[in-house]
Amino acid sequence: MSLTPIGEPRHKITTATIREKKLHHDPITCLTAYDYATARLVDEAGIDIALVGDSLAMTMLGYENTLSVTVDEMLHHVKAVRRGVKDALLIADMPYGSYQADPNEAVHNAARFVKEGGAEAVKMEGGEKRVDVIRRVMDAEIPVAGHIGLTPQSVNMMGGYKVQGKTLNAIEQLMRDAVALDRAGVACIYLEGIPREVAAMITAEVETPTIGIGAGPDCDGQVLVFHDLVNLTFGHPAKFVRRYGDAAALITQSVLAFKADVVSHQFPNDSESYHLPKETQAALETVLHRKQALRR
Ligand code: KIV
Repeated sequence: MSLTPIGEPRHKITTATIREKKLHHDPITCLTAYDYATARLVDEAGIDIALVGDSLAMTMLGYENTLSVTVDEMLHHVKAVRRGVKDALLIADMPYGSYQADPNEAVHNAARFVKEGGAEAVKMEGGEKRVDVIRRVMDAEIPVAGHIGLTPQSVNMMGGYKVQGKTLNAIEQLMRDAVALDRAGVACIYLEGIPREVAAMITAEVETPTIGIGAGPDCDGQVLVFHDLVNLTFGHPAKFVRRYGDAAALITQSVLAFKADVVSHQFPNDSESYHLPKETQAALETVLHRKQALRR
């Protein structure tokens, strides 16, 4: 059995494991991962869920929001993450437009994430109104993660990235959404950008594990965007982000040091260079001497 860097045993995490974790009040950990390197680091640290979030549209591809990323672009990243993840449950985000219009197309796209990408579940945004398509995808034997609250694919409908569930009507709708997803049997429900009191009520009401981002501490688990965690996002972080490291500073420092060493001829040095075998060196010198003698 392999161990995390701090010596904890690692096990394969499945949708059943995260359900059990809720039952035992054992917090569920989730981070986004977008490529082989981040996937390995997240997996080897023993994080339960590696989520290939469509947030990669911004963090990896530099788009303004999540709306333009395509199934093929997402798949490219899911495949890389699959190669880096061994134990974590691998969930792939269904991008905007890949599941809203037609349930057959939704099943087809979800199956691509499983067959071609190696995902073990897919995530779709939306509650009550998404239940029919979620059931269709689950009928195709593909576990689905729900996602309600501040759903970034609805940015234009919400009129910006605004905390949801702040009025009694909005709370009622969120509860209906959560209960509908729970009854449909989703693997977990991501709760994003809602007051902690509402997230606590939902978490107590549903049997499905809830995973919060900007939803307070009472969810069954927590997720952060990897680039937020390590400061690679270039902007002011949202209120809910806790930065655990400063990769931007580390990378900038390393890049500047490399540049300075190259321009001052400090890099590479002799021990960082390959050398000819002694016999070849001697033979080469003989050849060079002969050539010089002939020129004289
Ligand atoms: O795309 C993403 O990273 C997400 C998480 C923030 C839940 O959906």
